[in-house]
Amino acid sequence: MKTIVITGASSGIGLVTGEYLAKQGYLVYGLSRTKGSSTLIKYLSCDVTDSEQVKSAFGQIKEPIDVVINNAGMGISGPVEFTPKEEIDQILSVNLMGVVNVCQEAIPRLRITKGKIINLGSIAGELAIPFQSFYSLVKAAVASFSEGLNNELRPFGIKVTVVLPGDTKTSFTQNRQKPKVIDELYARRFQRSLAKMEEDEQKGKNPLTVAKTISRIIKRKHPPLKVAVGWEYKLFVFLKRLLPTKFVNWLLYQLYGR
Ligand SMILES: NC(=O)c1ccc[n+]([C@@H]2O[C@H](COP(=O)([O-])OP(=O)(O)OC[C@H]3O[C@@H](n4cnc5c(N)ncnc54)[C@H](OP(=O)(O)O)[C@@H]3O)[C@@H](O)[C@H]2O)c1
Repeated sequence: MKTIVITGASSGIGLVTGEYLAKQGYLVYGLSRTKGSSTLIKYLSCDVTDSEQVKSAFGQIKEPIDVVINNAGMGISGPVEFTPKEEIDQILSVNLMGVVNVCQEAIPRLRITKGKIINLGSIAGELAIPFQSFYSLVKAAVASFSEGLNNELRPFGIKVTVVLPGDTKTSFTQNRQKPKVIDELYARRFQRSLAKMEEDEQKGKNPLTVAKTISRIIKRKHPPLKVAVGWEYKLFVFLKRLLPTKFVNWLLYQLYGR
């Protein structure tokens, strides 16, 4: 039986993916701060921002580890100019340092099994969203980190994939950090942008779509390095490569910046 470790398995994409993989016969360990509702996932309490907690969680897993999925994450919104430093630190700690902490523990274990690392990026890392600039920043960083890491680990037979979901209906929307005070300078544009983003997410894909994409990556001998979830998001990523950056940026302004 292959063993999978997934972070953030207490809700949303992580919970659905963990359950989906467990039903396929994998042994699934879920790392999160709170215990999720699934009886199919073996939960280990872990805050991914704390490297000691990550170390201790991995220490409790005695089986050889075949796949590690870095899924834990949070959202943030608000104008860059008024985002408090603590909130910037928090998103960097969870969405970026969390991935780093887990990878550092996982790599020695995956070297033995020639396993896989699957990191959750986002379409927002490819197409930077105004008023979510810090979220786009960390997800672009996760994608770039994954590309570099893939080549570092190539000689060991460990493969890295970054998965890019678009709007997905989870509690991510309600968990997103919002500014406590919104300055007049940005208030109307920010509220419009956030409302559109929240509406799109709540009309978004079922997290099972992401779970199925991840499951396919796990089964592939030669997995892709980067994969968008769903044909429309694959198209967006493709068009972004073709179209002038300034035009794409203007389009994003029309959608989320005006
Ligand atoms: N939903 C979307 O539209 C969307 C789109 C693109 C990408 N994504 C990405 O997909 C991933 C999963 O998001 P989701 O939509 O499933 O959101 P979610 O429902 O809010 O789930 C987030 C998960 O991350 C865990 N988590 C947060 N901080 C943590 C920490 N410090 N240590 C350990 N676990 C932590 C949470 O568990 P605890 O609170 O129990 O710790 C929870 O299980 C994220 O990386 C997100 O950026 C989501």
